[in-house]
Amino acid sequence: MASSANVHCTNATDKQISYANNSSLQKKVLLKTRPFLEDTIKDMLSKMAPVPCIKVADLGCASGPNTFFPACGIVDIVTRICREAHCESPELQVFLNDLPQNNFNTVF
Ligand SMILES: C[S@@+](CC[C@H](N)C(=O)[O-])C[C@H]1O[C@@H](n2cnc3c(N)ncnc32)[C@H](O)[C@@H]1O
Repeated sequence: MASSANVHCTNATDKQISYANNSSLQKKVLLKTRPFLEDTIKDMLSKMAPVPCIKVADLGCASGPNTFFPACGIVDIVTRICREAHCESPELQVFLNDLPQNNFNTVF
């Protein structure tokens, strides 16, 4: 079994060289994949009965605000689809997961 002690976490935003300040490629990939995310959410919502809550998990959210780009994108997409369908938006719960050594304080 792999030990988390041997796994390196990303540098938090309080470090001189941080993951969040060096992830422009990730942001580009997010923008490029947004139409697929939108189609997937649309398809998912069309196949299920109205629900009061949708849960989203970021497995490896890292430090810094990166996790909010996809999370806010999902909120925007769900809100817009529901508004267009004249139905109430469900509550969204976002679960942020990472290694114990990750600096979660710098996420917010
Ligand atoms: C390359 S970063 C990706 C960060 C972010 N999701 C993004 O796309 O910008 C990978 C993250 O996964 C975390 N990670 C690695 N192994 C993990 C595990 N077993 N459980 C939870 N998180 C893990 C690392 O600590 C790191 O923050």
